Amino acid sequence: MCGIVGILADYEVSPVILEALRRLEYRGYDSAGIATIHDGHLDRRRAVGKLRSLSDHLVHDPLPGRSGIGHTRWATHGKPSKINAHPHRAGPVAVVHNGIIENFAALRAELRARNYGPESETDTETIALLCQSFMDDGLDPQEAVARTLDRIEGAFALAFLFDGEDDLMIAARRGSPLAVAHAGGEAFVGSDAIALAPLTDRLIYLEEGDWAVLTRASCRIFDAMGTAVDRPETRIAETAGRVEKGGHRHWMAKEIHEQPAVLDICLNRYLGADAVTLPGDGIDFTDVRRVVMVACGTAYYACHVAKYWFEALARLPVEIDVASEFRYREPPLEEGTLAIFVSQSGETADTLAALRYCKAQARTLAVVNVETSSIAREADAAFPILAGAEIGVASTKAFTCQLAVLAAIALSAAAARRTLAPDATAEHVATLRKMPALLSQALQSEDRMEDIARTLSEARDILFLGRGAMFPMALEGALKLKEISYIHAEGYASGELKHGPIALVDESVPVIVFAPSDPLFGKTVSNMQEVMARGGRVVLVSDAKGLRSVDGAWAEIEVPAVPAIWAPLLYAVPAQLLAYYTAIAKGTDVDQPRNLAKSVTVE
Ligand code: F6R
Repeated sequence: MCGIVGILADYEVSPVILEALRRLEYRGYDSAGIATIHDGHLDRRRAVGKLRSLSDHLVHDPLPGRSGIGHTRWATHGKPSKINAHPHRAGPVAVVHNGIIENFAALRAELRARNYGPESETDTETIALLCQSFMDDGLDPQEAVARTLDRIEGAFALAFLFDGEDDLMIAARRGSPLAVAHAGGEAFVGSDAIALAPLTDRLIYLEEGDWAVLTRASCRIFDAMGTAVDRPETRIAETAGRVEKGGHRHWMAKEIHEQPAVLDICLNRYLGADAVTLPGDGIDFTDVRRVVMVACGTAYYACHVAKYWFEALARLPVEIDVASEFRYREPPLEEGTLAIFVSQSGETADTLAALRYCKAQARTLAVVNVETSSIAREADAAFPILAGAEIGVASTKAFTCQLAVLAAIALSAAAARRTLAPDATAEHVATLRKMPALLSQALQSEDRMEDIARTLSEARDILFLGRGAMFPMALEGALKLKEISYIHAEGYASGELKHGPIALVDESVPVIVFAPSDPLFGKTVSNMQEVMARGGRVVLVSDAKGLRSVDGAWAEIEVPAVPAIWAPLLYAVPAQLLAYYTAIAKGTDVDQPRNLAKSVTVE
């Protein structure tokens, strides 16, 4: 979602802000802008579309200045347009914002009545107008921001600049992540470490409700009550900002191909020679009676797969839910509940809210990629998935690493609860350790998937089917395909076919069936036959044994054979590559699909 950068320096900041915004492109955006102070005066440039439009604009109409804030906007209130793009300005105040101001309509009416009329449709402009109104009442910028923060409700990260104030930048965080840095006569504000990594190696992550007053010589942080506080500095990896495509055409392709390597790193961290070794103190499963798993999108499907593992291996009842539903349905959490929150970014607003709901009632565990994220920091314990920065909007390597960590937790639960004997655990550990090599083998069917995808790209609707833990893989396959190719796709449990979706089947609707040769294979094949009997074109994804035993599929994709329980880790590859090559055939923007954001920090 929206990206924020702010710099106070002794050099021209516009080009540096533009570069930092480029590193934030992966979050998804539809317009961008920069404001600076030059000769004491606030000025700004904004443009719709990709950053190229903004940089072209800056070539023709440069924006000098050594103090500046920049923004990539993912539209919430008001369409993508120059007038709605940030920075928003009201009198002496310029502001950039990530999040949503929930009481903006009431504030807007109040401000309008006092002749502070907005020019845009955004909630953000209300912040600038409110702050301007306080300054018109005689408050200085710091006091005006403090009063503004008292009045606005919702989730936000903000950075302010003020006309006539070349050495002042104010940042604030409530609900959306924001980091600040201060060193050597320079000050920075940024949405994440990727944005700021080439500029500084130390960040201070603002905590919930914090706001920071930055000058070139000082950085003062206040908590929500206005009390001055010290927040720790975090050293960021030298490589954090050095994210490169490594010869691949898209981030998504790079990240799909990186999976064997990152899965190996992840499994090495969680698996010993013949047992699981969870980070830190691990999890004491002796009094865990029930597991609740909450996440959104692809991370939710990882939970859905893991439900099969926890139930089958550890005999633990598992409830799963999407965070946006879980947080509002007031689920009772009985004693002995372990609540697990899975999130690549660690900043997804609904998942964070669900975690906060559970905190007083259950033990909470975060499974995250970004270890400094809000979800990681607020949970009782956080297990990293170690996938490395994921830039493509469609989650790929984070999904397989989430599965790996959840597999380790499920095995650890089974060992602690003695539902799995040590030699059986050792056997599972040995199988999981082979997964990176098997994943490499699965990637070898890439050309075949590219061929099939060319035909899939002509379809209007596509169905995905799977049984058991292949059901969530069918859901994941459909999600991946629709988000980057814009083809309508749905995932179903194979057994549900006859209860409705079979009505859709004809020769124009490809049906992709995930069916490893496991004890459920025969049943899935029967459903497949029902599709073929109605003229449906089946793409069967299975291992050699499965493919040998069935005739009549329109196309086949071979995946290495693996014990059924761990097959989801491998079937992620065809789910991802079919989506990727279908999108390529359709010519869509694979890494930044329309309307999507990488980190969903608003509800
Ligand atoms: C789909 C995708 C999204 C995310 C979801 C949760 O490819 O990437 O569905 O999985 O928005 O995001 P995180 O994992 O950051 O909480």
